[in-house]
Amino acid sequence: MTKTLSLPLAAGADLERYRQVRARLPILAESLSPEDLQAQSMAEASPGKWHLGHVSWFFEVMLLDRPGYEPVDPSFRAIFNSYYEGLGERIDRAERGLMTRPSAAEVMAYRAEIDRRMEARLVEPLEGARRYLFELGLNHEQQHQELFLMDILHLMSCSPLEPATYAAEPRTTGPEAGRGGWQAFEGGLVEIGAPDEGFAFDNERPAHRVWLEPFALAADLVTNGDWMAFIRDGGYRRPELWLSDGWAVVKARGWTAPLYWREEEGGWTAMTLAGRRPVDPAAPVRHVSFYEAEAFARWSGRRLPTEAEWERAARSRPDAFSNLDGEVWQWTASAYGPYPGFRPTEGTAAEYNGKFMANQMVMRGGAFATPEGHARPTYRNFFYPHQRWAFAGVRLASDRT
Ligand code: AVJ
Ligand code: FE
Repeated sequence: MTKTLSLPLAAGADLERYRQVRARLPILAESLSPEDLQAQSMAEASPGKWHLGHVSWFFEVMLLDRPGYEPVDPSFRAIFNSYYEGLGERIDRAERGLMTRPSAAEVMAYRAEIDRRMEARLVEPLEGARRYLFELGLNHEQQHQELFLMDILHLMSCSPLEPATYAAEPRTTGPEAGRGGWQAFEGGLVEIGAPDEGFAFDNERPAHRVWLEPFALAADLVTNGDWMAFIRDGGYRRPELWLSDGWAVVKARGWTAPLYWREEEGGWTAMTLAGRRPVDPAAPVRHVSFYEAEAFARWSGRRLPTEAEWERAARSRPDAFSNLDGEVWQWTASAYGPYPGFRPTEGTAAEYNGKFMANQMVMRGGAFATPEGHARPTYRNFFYPHQRWAFAGVRLASDRT
């Protein structure tokens, strides 16, 4: 305590924030066994153990690694590298689950050593690019807290025992009651994107103007009950409702309902972080792909919002909408690409977002599993259009009310 108080003010605040953000992932992992943390359920998901190591590795390569720096373990450089070509060799993502070494205990020891080194480093105030990389490291860790939950849910859904990962779903916010109806907007020339001040990912910048035609955005998210009506009406059997690529996936994978849903005698159930539960018709639908969201919108006679429409609505009337950011990410009709004037972060972090700007769709908002304070109205999440293990749902838009 005395030590913290004697630090310069900025450094003390950084240290506090560092500790607070770093505390969550071990808490989420606490109730899981080393076996739970080891397995990888699909190529797109990672073992919990890998997440725990990778976020520590990120601080090591982005902030600690300076000339003369001795890595905690040189072999971790490749093991915990996710996708950075600039940082040399790495292990194929699909093979992360094969790394039974380092053990879960060794990964936790690695975390602890990175914490010691980071805390020592945080005695010096951070400036300029280093400050940005520090913030990036914290925001990156928060992204992996949500990815950890997505991946562990997918893993548990693959077990015949369908275990509850937690006694109750870990939520950072409570669900908000529906407001009903639509919010109409005039359109015109609006500014979207993050201002230069404050932390934002590079893909949220620069702020720029876009032209919007008049539109309306639903006050509430699409619910499970709405989705059941879509299913009953043959939603998954009618090719005319689907984009060609989407219909191909429906057929190839045999989709008949959102991911994790199963029809049982008493009705639909869904696998959750608290085990298999009855699907609540009033709750927002989760675990649908962009293709499903798009087909549902067509079936409804509506459409998905563009990301600019979503941002305009969320920034100008945040209180008019329910669950803008605390339930599910919301698919948009916008392809994930660079904003006009986009410049990737300099250095190794240039690979963070920019190189993924093809063939993915933007999601806006935030989810129940998104750490508090992580998302923003300018935040751009992105996934491939067939992916549905993210905590993703739908908010409809319309050309007029
Ligand atoms: C924004 C969620 C698509 O999962 O690759 C994690 C987040 N970036 N580490 C991803 C991310 C670097 C990213 N998504
Ligand atoms: Fe990462």
